[in-house]
Amino acid sequence: MARHFLTGAELTAAELNALLDRALELKAAPLSSQALAGRSVALIFQKPSTRTRISFEVGVHELGGHPVVLRSDEMQLSRGEAVRDTALVLSRHVVAVGLRTGPDSILEELAAYSSAPVLNMLSARHHPCQALADLLTLREAYGSLEGLRVAYVGDGNNVARSLAVLGTIAGMHVAVASPAGYSLEDDLSLAPGARGLVTLHEDPREAVKGARALYTDVWVSMGDEQTAAERRAALADYRLDEELLDAAAPGAFAMHDLPAHPGEEITAELLYGTRQRIWDQAENRRHAQKALLELLVTAA
Ligand code: CP
Ligand code: NVA
Repeated sequence: MARHFLTGAELTAAELNALLDRALELKAAPLSSQALAGRSVALIFQKPSTRTRISFEVGVHELGGHPVVLRSDEMQLSRGEAVRDTALVLSRHVVAVGLRTGPDSILEELAAYSSAPVLNMLSARHHPCQALADLLTLREAYGSLEGLRVAYVGDGNNVARSLAVLGTIAGMHVAVASPAGYSLEDDLSLAPGARGLVTLHEDPREAVKGARALYTDVWVSMGDEQTAAERRAALADYRLDEELLDAAAPGAFAMHDLPAHPGEEITAELLYGTRQRIWDQAENRRHAQKALLELLVTAA
């Protein structure tokens, strides 16, 4: 049975810890592993991507493998071929399948029929590969993640949920501040072995108290475009700026998975200033995902 990575809750605390250690080793020596030598990995994009595509494509190459990047509108999937049949065929050729899609049910169906590990490269509810890079960035800054408080301020979306799922496996306290109607619902599907804590707040100042990093994401996610105006109005007070950062723990920094909209969820001053680790996060996608690929492909 292949090991899939759909929500991040598949990892134990020990595995997550080892994965982050390994990612740091790979970051220090990017060409030191040939774990995918002579193998191929399919990367299917049903939505646009900059970071995920480049970090996976380059990462697979650095591991000695070949990335097969597939836009779903170029596949028979777009003409009605079953997800099941796509999974059966891909499994005959590649050692892992990454999918960026909308409904999580498509990922679950692909995983149900794929004998190769399936990786979630972003879905409506989850973005676990992003969370791996986020934890790697926090690990670089603070060492241990145990008991570390991080505040997420903004839309309670896929990025917030994955930070909560993976962060609590690592023993973190994730405080999430969102306006009414945009909160991470109580059903977070935390991992069975989650040791950390998630708290939901409406007041950003309450969430950021004692936080060692402040995280935000876009107000209008892919697929939410029709409600863009009401989202911008509801989330207007949930912007990361210097003043909110001053209300966090001393030395706290800003985080963002990107793409950013300076002037909306984060100020340009923070995004391009010195009190952020946002561009490190973007780089860390590659290192974390390489460690994930090593883990999943070796386990297969
Ligand atoms: N953070 C992230 O997933 O970026 P892309 O949408 O560019 O892949
Ligand atoms: N929440 C955003 C993340 C983009 C990387 C979206 O789903 O569009």
